[in-house]
Amino acid sequence: MNNSYKKEWEDSYKRGENNILYPHDEVVKFLNRFVRKKLNFKGGFKDILDFTKTVKGLDFGCGVARSAILMEEFGIESYGVDISSNAIEKAKDNASSFGYDSLSSRLQTIDSNELPYEDNFFDISIAESCLDSMSFGNASALINEISRVTKKYIYFSVISCEVNFKNKLAEDLIVETNHEFGTIQSYYDEERIIELVSHFNSETVFIRNYTATGATKDDLIDSRFFVVLDVS
Ligand SMILES: C[S@@+](CC[C@H](N)C(=O)[O-])C[C@H]1O[C@@H](n2cnc3c(N)ncnc32)[C@H](O)[C@@H]1O
Repeated sequence: MNNSYKKEWEDSYKRGENNILYPHDEVVKFLNRFVRKKLNFKGGFKDILDFTKTVKGLDFGCGVARSAILMEEFGIESYGVDISSNAIEKAKDNASSFGYDSLSSRLQTIDSNELPYEDNFFDISIAESCLDSMSFGNASALINEISRVTKKYIYFSVISCEVNFKNKLAEDLIVETNHEFGTIQSYYDEERIIELVSHFNSETVFIRNYTATGATKDDLIDSRFFVVLDVS
């Protein structure tokens, strides 16, 4: 892979970063809005996609597999890929802890911009907080691949330029602070999102920019875009 920052991600996971064990609430909402609505904790769902056959989901850039584990909880046969073998090791351990041993065998390291799946293998794909953790060039190549292997929906989230009130440009920067040191953080505005998804056919069925503001200008703020594409 072209300058993929694998070593930096391996080091980051060795330091215990991104050991995030609970799903992002927007991923939970995506599944409930577009895939199947969870009705109770006894296994009750109102299906939106056709669950009379196996529904398959990809957790791209899965880290420790929080979204893959959530998909299993929703009755989706999930798979996960990440550039970091340290992340995949933790992901497998997490899947096994939930008793999802077969998920554990479906989590793997990738080291190129090609995904090891045939066309339309997945019904849905999730790329939570990862397309912005690489160069725009790699993200473009990889979302094309994600669209190739996905039949219906792609969910992704990317950081906005306006994070931390810095009004950064929509560009790729090397992280110089401790968390994720040496990796790329790639900032997005709407124009850059449109460019990211411009090389394949899709309809944007959901896009939101949520910004959490603090009481003062110095408070850390979080600002992200959440996008769902219909690629069918
Ligand atoms: C901020 S973490 C998010 C992890 C996970 N999606 C989550 O929500 O917890 C970004 C992830 O992207 C992965 N990543 C970075 N570049 C990648 C690439 N070129 N291919 C696959 N995964 C990559 C990193 O290893 C890391 O796990």
